[in-house]
Amino acid sequence: MAIERANAAGIGEDERKLALNHYDLNSRSLLGKGTEAEVYALSEDLVLKLYAGTNRLGKLEILKKFYDGLDDSALSVRVPRIYSIEPVENLLCVTERRFHGMPLESLIAKASDQQLNAIRPEYLRGVSELANLSVSYNPRTFLLFDEVGKSDIQTGDFHHFIRRMVLDKAESNKDTLSSTVKHFSRKLATLESLLDEPYVGNLFVIHGDYFPGNIIARDPDRLEAVIDFGSFTMFGNPLYDVATACSFFDMYGPRRDVIRDELIETAVSLHGEPSRKWLLAFMSSYALLSCDLYAGNEPLIENGHYAWARDLLNRDDYWKILGCK
Ligand SMILES: Nc1ncnc2c1ncn2[C@@H]1O[C@H](COP(=O)(O)OP(=O)(O)O)[C@@H](O)[C@H]1O
Ligand SMILES: [Mg+2]
Repeated sequence: MAIERANAAGIGEDERKLALNHYDLNSRSLLGKGTEAEVYALSEDLVLKLYAGTNRLGKLEILKKFYDGLDDSALSVRVPRIYSIEPVENLLCVTERRFHGMPLESLIAKASDQQLNAIRPEYLRGVSELANLSVSYNPRTFLLFDEVGKSDIQTGDFHHFIRRMVLDKAESNKDTLSSTVKHFSRKLATLESLLDEPYVGNLFVIHGDYFPGNIIARDPDRLEAVIDFGSFTMFGNPLYDVATACSFFDMYGPRRDVIRDELIETAVSLHGEPSRKWLLAFMSSYALLSCDLYAGNEPLIENGHYAWARDLLNRDDYWKILGCK
């Protein structure tokens, strides 16, 4: 998946000042920084998001249309809305619906063990609920952002699309993967044959980056909104989102494996035993698809996120469940 992430850190001091002035704000209104944007409180009902550069204009326009077509009335969590997109200096200024609460990430950092036990099922209930989102148009591509039509739904079903991307990614990183993932070619063949089974369900909204930083909550066990759809958003099998949510809850902490396994059990209890193999297949697919996503100039093998992907692909107990001998 060729996904490039803009960098909020690329916003210069002067351009920030000018953009904030334009909206009668100053840096004290900062609510949070993500990987792509800086977010400011504009009013009780609005936030202002600043993006470095103007190259995301086309994507933000697609995102606005997508949000305009979403109906969240059947959900207990809210989803964003974009009201305006305006270039100011060398920045893009976006006004969005504001949610009150805290990023779930901050609440987790302060939570007791008992609270954490309540947060995890609520977190998974939130991602499962996204399957109730209705979209007002029929998507033409599996990826929300797909300027070149490489994920055209005419070319196959969702599973075949994921398979194609997985195989491309495996091919472009085959030397590193083969030398660091045990029995890599056997595992890839297993994944390939699992994803051969066509996906025949509806094309549900897949957030794609459902993790505690993209959730606003009032209390640890009461989710308010899921924000920041976009770069990873797709239309397809909703278990893809549940699978990645299990991995994203705690990606790099010392207890990540235990926590992921507990989340998988909770997800299986919500979605039934047959979901287990899809959760593991999509988790492994994501590990492959993202293995070089955050790589800088260093050799891939030394990249922290690559190490995460490698470790997940080396969980042979998962592969046993997937039928890899
Ligand atoms: N609509 C909103 N209402 C309230 N706070 C928000 C809103 N959008 C973003 N934030 C705050 O800004 C942070 C980063 O926003 P996010 O949209 O995830 O940016 P990025 O696209 O850079 O990841 C969030 O974790 C949250 O603290
Ligand atoms: Mg974010």
